[in-house]
Amino acid sequence: MYDIKKRIDNRDFLIGIIGLGYVGLPLAVEFARNDFNVIGIELDKDKVDKINKGVNYIKDVDDELLKELVQKGKIRATTDYSVLKNIDSVSICVPTPLNKTKEPDISFIINVRDEIVKYLHRGMLVVLESTTYPGTTDEVLLPVFESTGMKVGEDFYLAFSPERIDPGNPIYQTKNTPKVFGGVTKQCTEIGSYLYGKIIDKVVPVSSTRAAEAVKILENTYRSINIGLANEIAIMCDKLNINVWEVIDAASTKPFGFQAFYPGPGLGGHCIPIDPLYLSWKMKLYNYNAKFITLADEINSNMPKYIVSRIGDILNEKSKSIKDSKILVLGVTYKRDIDDLRESPVIDIVSELFTRKANVFYNDPYIKEFYVVKDPSEISKDSVLLHSTEITTELLKDMDLVVITTNHSDYDYKFIVEHSDVIFDTRNATKGYNDEKIVYL
Ligand SMILES: NC(=O)c1ccc[n+]([C@@H]2O[C@H](COP(=O)([O-])OP(=O)(O)OC[C@H]3O[C@@H](n4cnc5c(N)ncnc54)[C@H](O)[C@@H]3O)[C@@H](O)[C@H]2O)c1
Repeated sequence: MYDIKKRIDNRDFLIGIIGLGYVGLPLAVEFARNDFNVIGIELDKDKVDKINKGVNYIKDVDDELLKELVQKGKIRATTDYSVLKNIDSVSICVPTPLNKTKEPDISFIINVRDEIVKYLHRGMLVVLESTTYPGTTDEVLLPVFESTGMKVGEDFYLAFSPERIDPGNPIYQTKNTPKVFGGVTKQCTEIGSYLYGKIIDKVVPVSSTRAAEAVKILENTYRSINIGLANEIAIMCDKLNINVWEVIDAASTKPFGFQAFYPGPGLGGHCIPIDPLYLSWKMKLYNYNAKFITLADEINSNMPKYIVSRIGDILNEKSKSIKDSKILVLGVTYKRDIDDLRESPVIDIVSELFTRKANVFYNDPYIKEFYVVKDPSEISKDSVLLHSTEITTELLKDMDLVVITTNHSDYDYKFIVEHSDVIFDTRNATKGYNDEKIVYL
């Protein structure tokens, strides 16, 4: 153990990061910035080529810093797993999506496990960072690694450490977001915490991998349930003719006992809509129905349909129907100021409007084009490729309805309000404009 810590101190400790996406690349950069040599293992050849040329593709990563680290030889990328032979610590940052029946798909973790086991060697630390249900590290990784005859905590080290980054957050990034760390044994926690402590301001050790896995799911379930509550309050407030945003703002003035969550067109991204369902799936194996999770998922998943029904009501007031109306959708990413379209509820809204034969236009400064289909991995001949339209006076005036679905900071809301006929604002982005032409969620 002393020897390993000394090698970490001397930076004689080669880091591997598997999966160079939203999570893996910022982590690789953080290790390299702190003088570790890092090899990224990534299946996508295009990403590998970009990294090796010093070209960045993740918004939260600094272009110049990445270029400099690549030029200095601190980071390189490959598709070849055999580099693991020489790697001292490997962090797994691959996707953990749901399958079509909304059950956990841990096939990416399993594929990675089956590669790592070929190169597992004495002293190696393996850290799973992908969000998953409690028990994954113990039940899915450990038995396969120990089938080599090596013993965890003695011959190799294994841990779970959830990634908590919030893409687009200007204040909290990899370095200053505390890192929860749970090893299979005390030795695993100690070595892993020591290593991560070199690159992250605060490491929070917990007693097991299961506890660490549960921490991440609790955090995102908390958000999912509270957003679900805000969404349901919004639906109820509309029926009672109350502005929900005013209610939440006023409630937020209470200095204790209330934390504001806001409604919106639905949940998106690779975390909040997915992670709680990993836990509810696991609980089914114990014959336990995770009621809060199921209810929040139901309310949140229904929001795109609710938004479309409100669009129908607004047009109805103008003696128009969704069919043949010109509708401009502003913002398609799942939250503001990011370029991530994964699980965005706006895709469902636009698809539904298309199905109902509206003439749909969209603008998003971060998404130049996207396919209107339920599942972007299933692009068929019926799919329609939409291109972002420039927001001009003429375009706004020509629309029957403008819907603000994502409140990007780049938008000139004053201009949008001034030139639009009717606006449906699902994000309270036009707060303070007090114009009768604005309908709020
Ligand atoms: N994006 C977020 O905001 C966020 C935040 C916290 C946690 N997480 C969790 O982190 C994990 C990764 O998410 P992400 O957003 O970085 O995903 P991502 O899709 O951006 O990146 C994953 C990368 O892994 C690569 N990959 C897939 N299989 C591979 C394999 N077998 N070998 C090597 N590379 C492989 C993919 O090509 C991709 O580049 C998920 O479990 C997610 O839930 C994500």
